[in-house]
Amino acid sequence: MSEHAYQQCIHASCAATYGLDEVLFRCPQCGNLLDVRYEWDRIPVPKALSDFNRRWSTPGRSPEARADFSGVWRFRELLPFARLEDIHTIGEGRTLLQQADQIAPQVGMDAGRLFLQYEGFNPTGSFKDNGMTAAFTLARRLGKTRVACASTGNTSASMAVYAAQAGDRGRPMQAIVFIGRGKIAYGKLAQALDFGALTLQVDGDFDACMRRVVESAEKLGIYLMNSLNPFRLEGQKAIMYRVLQGLDWEVPDWIVVPGGNLGNSSAFGKAFLELKQLGLVDRVPRIAIINAAGANTLSEAWNRRGFRWQDGSFDGDGVCHLFNELDNTGQKAVTVASAIEIGRPVNLTKALRTLDVMDGVVREVPDETILEFKALVGKYGYGCEPASAASLAGLKLLRDEGTIAADERAVCILTGHALKDPDVTVKYHTGLDAKAAKMPEAAPPTGVLANQPIRAADDFEAIREAIEGSTKYEV
Ligand code: F0G
Repeated sequence: MSEHAYQQCIHASCAATYGLDEVLFRCPQCGNLLDVRYEWDRIPVPKALSDFNRRWSTPGRSPEARADFSGVWRFRELLPFARLEDIHTIGEGRTLLQQADQIAPQVGMDAGRLFLQYEGFNPTGSFKDNGMTAAFTLARRLGKTRVACASTGNTSASMAVYAAQAGDRGRPMQAIVFIGRGKIAYGKLAQALDFGALTLQVDGDFDACMRRVVESAEKLGIYLMNSLNPFRLEGQKAIMYRVLQGLDWEVPDWIVVPGGNLGNSSAFGKAFLELKQLGLVDRVPRIAIINAAGANTLSEAWNRRGFRWQDGSFDGDGVCHLFNELDNTGQKAVTVASAIEIGRPVNLTKALRTLDVMDGVVREVPDETILEFKALVGKYGYGCEPASAASLAGLKLLRDEGTIAADERAVCILTGHALKDPDVTVKYHTGLDAKAAKMPEAAPPTGVLANQPIRAADDFEAIREAIEGSTKYEV
């Protein structure tokens, strides 16, 4: 393990430090979140980001080659807490930055200015693999055998796979997932079950699961894999490194990301804070964090209550009070984008730092709009789950209000694969209520971009008529 890495409380008035091998998910002294920190002056970091290009295609079976194959570990000097031999990778992070010229005009952007970072192409179909590989690498180092998370689905799917494969790379691990009953899309539930996770369907929502998993982890000595685990966020920084690499190391103007538990948002801010400190970028992009309107606690905190980072002296008690107030008034998160149906985001204070570092904005988008933008992303061949489309919906909103200009370079993070939540997609296109589909009440039976299947008799003439008579593909 690197001697030049440690953990530190993020609150400026505390800033207590802890060793890497101390299993802590909040500061024992003040209860705030922890960061992984590095003594950068003692770590060999490349002089320019372009030095990472040579790692793209290292051949062979060596530990270096395995690490270089990963879109996380090929940037290992920027998350230097791991020993090469501990790295637990399943080939995550080989995702592509796509220039989306067909979608650009539909969200008000000039051609060549809209990019989609397609994290659905990760092995388990979501961005979570970026973080899991990092947290599992530390868990292996610490000799952990039981891991747990609360999840709206993707974290649990990812954790289940890494745990299931851990036995091939050393000790087997048992995965324990806490999911809110009826709150998870079937594609994700299927993964947790198939990969052998002990799956607890708790009578409550994600926020209730989160509280229970923390309690269980502490009392039963289970290693926590939610993004409270600061090592998860180290891996998720790599999403930003790949965005930069996809742009030949040029910094875009905007990163647009859906906000749920705010792990991604927190990781992205830390990535740019460090790159700036290391002199590897000369400026940082702005960030737009997009909440679903029915799960808008960050927007409430940032836009209406005025919470700010304040150089690390943020009002942590105020955030606790806000959460208590939401609890006491019975306010629960409700959105079709089940992945971000989260009312008490655990990383909220780190997200305040990101909003500060990246001169950010927070917006809310309604479910109906999320569904239309999900269909748009699908129509042009990318495809994503509902939560991911909040980024496109948010970008359009920011274009309409003039915050983002048509000629700025914007990158939307598509966080999860379309197959994660097929029920919502089928319901959108056909109006048929697939068993688990949960749609906004106000949504019409089918969406604006609905692509209805056509029924045809088992007869060539009927099929010819269905094909030639279709106007669907006329431009
Ligand atoms: N998009 C998808 C597809 C997600 O699964 C999540 C979070 C988010 C966006 C929000 O990301 O939490 O970093 O702000 N899913 C978690 C889970 C909570 O349990 O799978 P965030």
